[in-house]
Amino acid sequence: MKVVIAGSGYVGLVTGACLADIGVEVCCVDIDQQKIDNLQQGILPIFEPGLEDIIHRNVKSKRLHFSTALQDNIKGAGAIFIAVGTPPGEDGSADMQYVLAVASSIGQYLEDYTVVVTKSTVPVGSSEKVRAALKQSLDQRGIDIPFDVVSNPEFLKEGAAIKDFMSPDRIVVGIDSDRAKETMDTLYKPFLLNGYRILYMDIPSAEMTKYAANAMLATRISFMNDIANLCEKVGANVSHVRAGIGADPRIGKKFLYPGVGYGGSCFPKDVKALLRTGKDYDYPLRLLEAVEAVNNAQKQILFDKIQRHYDQNLKGRTIAVWGLAFKPNTDDIREAPALVLIESLLQAGAKVQVYDPEAMKESQKLLQDKVIWAEDVYDCVKAADAIALVTEWNAFRLPNWQLIKSLMNNPVVFDGRNIYDDVQLTKAGFTYYGIGQ
Ligand code: UDX
Repeated sequence: MKVVIAGSGYVGLVTGACLADIGVEVCCVDIDQQKIDNLQQGILPIFEPGLEDIIHRNVKSKRLHFSTALQDNIKGAGAIFIAVGTPPGEDGSADMQYVLAVASSIGQYLEDYTVVVTKSTVPVGSSEKVRAALKQSLDQRGIDIPFDVVSNPEFLKEGAAIKDFMSPDRIVVGIDSDRAKETMDTLYKPFLLNGYRILYMDIPSAEMTKYAANAMLATRISFMNDIANLCEKVGANVSHVRAGIGADPRIGKKFLYPGVGYGGSCFPKDVKALLRTGKDYDYPLRLLEAVEAVNNAQKQILFDKIQRHYDQNLKGRTIAVWGLAFKPNTDDIREAPALVLIESLLQAGAKVQVYDPEAMKESQKLLQDKVIWAEDVYDCVKAADAIALVTEWNAFRLPNWQLIKSLMNNPVVFDGRNIYDDVQLTKAGFTYYGIGQ
């Protein structure tokens, strides 16, 4: 089968590369000429473990191509995936202009039946808009070519995207045609190892599933952050509480880690978009409003602790920030808690030294000379008055604390992810602050 993927961002590239790897002929299309030129030379726009290998392998075996010309590649495509961005508009709603532009273009060039699969995260009702935009283009050409629209939201996590795509927990497909179901069965059956399932449902339910999943995960995180902050006040330790509640299979162990708030390209955007949908339908989602508010406050938690430690006076203090990416194994700094912390530290007159194993280049575009760019973990702490651990990269997990102590002005650690043992660090001569303990 031949498949076209419109949009060579995170989701588009991972989808294209993984489908090519099981034998599908894939063309990844993007309007960004530079991006496509780079991809043709094997240069990826993102860092994602394993992706480069899969792309190189499939480009070499000629199953994976890159192009800026949708029109040249539509012919013979059994499915066209739309995987372009849906950034939040000013009112928080997902901006559909790129998705609908692709739908219109497909209508301009379609010659035969195809299945148009929406992979971008789009609000409920969007697949109908995709259908209408495509139909309008066909009408303008004065022809009637059959096509189906499918909603197939993506649940992959950055940093684990290949694994998530190759062995998914579930594949959600919103569908209203048997013909389209055959196509989706053909494409996805090879990924259904170990009894994982394709969950077929109606289109609005599939669209809603994606938002509900991300909103639920965001809710768990904000709930735990709230509990962690209360633990500090009552003298409890949230790590014990987390283990205690996670042992109940009804609750489960995952996504119960308190920290510095969730970031990234999905949770903040999708929570906003679902809140917007609630308002549009005159059903404000009060719980989710609180989830968002708790998260915004949590992004300030390390700053508040550092301020308190230094009696609200950070002028002339040097703070080492470990980690910029919103989570480990990615260079993505979208909505990253580290950026909020750095901004507050700078405003309070502190000097900020930063290090991240992968996200330095991305961050430099934004922070430029506002901070000092360290070479590594140790360079970052030189003459520092505190370390703020923001992203739990492996590189930060077991450093040489004695060396670090000798390099710092004041041995103080603010552990935004609870990855260190407070007893061990205290023994090593550090003042230690965690989250909720
Ligand atoms: C998320 C969803 O997990 C994925 O299914 C969806 O397709 C896209 O959004 P992603 O944003 O890549 O994926 O990262 P994820 O690993 O889910 O982490 C999101 C944020 O939550 C990170 O900032 C992370 O640090 C934070 N987090 C996660 C916590 O603070 N505590 C936890 O227990 C888990």
